[in-house]
Amino acid sequence: MPASDSTPTVKDSNPSTPAADSVFVLLGAEPGIRRLVDRFYDVMDIDQDLKVLRDVHGASLDQARDKLFWYLCGYFGGPQLYIERFGHPRLRARHLPYSIGIKERDQWLLCMARAMQDLDYPEERIARLLEIFFGVADWMRNRDD
Ligand code: HEM
Repeated sequence: MPASDSTPTVKDSNPSTPAADSVFVLLGAEPGIRRLVDRFYDVMDIDQDLKVLRDVHGASLDQARDKLFWYLCGYFGGPQLYIERFGHPRLRARHLPYSIGIKERDQWLLCMARAMQDLDYPEERIARLLEIFFGVADWMRNRDD
């Protein structure tokens, strides 16, 4: 699993041919990741108990939808759509303008869990992906509480 901010792997440098066993392919390549990201932001918009997370975002989620989709394609071993557009993700630095603590992190993960459940991902896949997302989301925290 290539982490976004780690040294590029061979897979990263050859984005037109994602490995058949990559998470990218497992999740249904670009259409599958688009479905996941769209569901994620729909849930964020609808579920009232995720309001703290929703309020960190601006009025429109359109830009966030596109950017998370581009980012996750590359992160999971597919084409580096985010890097092609914006260069190195510097994900933590890009989140510094937003106040992110434990509540925001946990709502992000809950939102992603619901999106995966809504798309009928198998339980063990949800558990594995949440472990991976936990690492990234926790790293994004810039508040202790
Ligand atoms: C931990 C809780 C998190 C919060 C509260 C949060 C919040 C935000 C907000 C408010 C934006 C700006 C959206 C916009 O431009 O309209 C953003 C951008 C973004 N987030 Fe998060 N995020 C979190 C975690 C994550 C995680 C875990 C990932 C990846 C797995 C991620 C990936 C991204 C990406 C790729 C962008 C676009 C960055 C850019 O180019 O400006 N975020 N996030």
